Amino acid sequence: MEVSDQPSEHQFLKQKHIQYVIEQDSHKSYEYWLSEHLRMNGLYWGVTALATMDVLEANLPRGKVEEYVMSCWDSASGAFGAFPKHDGHILSTLSALQILLIYDVAMPTLDSEKRSQLTQFIVGLQQDDGSFQGDRFGEIDTRFSYTALSSLSILGELTPEIADPAIAFIMQCQNFDGSFGLVPGSESHAAQVFTCIGSLAICDLLHLLKDDTKLSNWLSERQVLPSGGFNGRPEKLPDVCYSWWVLSSLAIFGKKHWVDLPMLEKFILACQDGSDGGISDRPDNQTDIYHTCFGIAGLSLIDHRRYGFKEIDPVYCMPSETTQHFTKWKRVS
Ligand code: FPP
Ligand code: ZN
Repeated sequence: MEVSDQPSEHQFLKQKHIQYVIEQDSHKSYEYWLSEHLRMNGLYWGVTALATMDVLEANLPRGKVEEYVMSCWDSASGAFGAFPKHDGHILSTLSALQILLIYDVAMPTLDSEKRSQLTQFIVGLQQDDGSFQGDRFGEIDTRFSYTALSSLSILGELTPEIADPAIAFIMQCQNFDGSFGLVPGSESHAAQVFTCIGSLAICDLLHLLKDDTKLSNWLSERQVLPSGGFNGRPEKLPDVCYSWWVLSSLAIFGKKHWVDLPMLEKFILACQDGSDGGISDRPDNQTDIYHTCFGIAGLSLIDHRRYGFKEIDPVYCMPSETTQHFTKWKRVS
């Protein structure tokens, strides 16, 4: 089915995108062999794209996917790597948890021993200032804060002892323009806004922002005219993935209407590859699974009903149907 009642000259090429996602593993291109370190993230992007289009189980059966995910378990670190025999890393760990959860909210392949090792791994990455590193090699980034908090939330292991210092660090990353950077004092960046606002939402501490007007203005200014696409920072080119990083934060604030949604939709649809499926960062560029996922996730935020998609949770970037099934952390204060 191609969805045609769009406010745009482009149709959404659903069947082509399904084919594109399921053929990812057979595209043994040069880039494929160089991207082992992203393989678990890539699988999450593919699973999320198909789940959002509501065609997951028919196209990517659970058994093989779970088998792959579990083959990436690194018993030395007690976490998931991106590829079998890779060291555990927080980014591949969140992706692995998301994949398992999307297929089955009970995550039956994760026994209590593994869950407790995962919790230890994640908690062990937190620094004295509340920030998180991605693995034992020490890089700090608000991406890792979000990834750690989301993973702990999924595992039901978030506590005030972890959340409070984590959020104190996140709040230090807010800049004079209301936006956020990857560490305190670094440049405002829309993807970092998602990680920081998502972290606040996961920890039930969004009220710490007091007033989101300045930030929501900054986010709305990411819409580049005449294309209608969003950029990640002032003066940069529009890019499909920012449809997600920007619109998810506006959705959390209930302010999606602050941007021109039909223009954004038109931009995303113009980035589809009409012959091979998949979505690219900008019209006529090479497609990839990352932009395919976030283009589809963006369309779900714009109007999931019209596309026959599942609603997507702007905090967790998984179908709301999935995230309704684990107990969200509620602060009792
Ligand atoms: C920018 O990518 C993206 C980020 C810095 C955010 C990444 C967020 C996570 C990994 C957290 C998990 C996310 C989800 C949705 C569950 P980039 O550096 O490629 O951007 P650029 O190409 O614009 O520089
Ligand atoms: Zn991008």
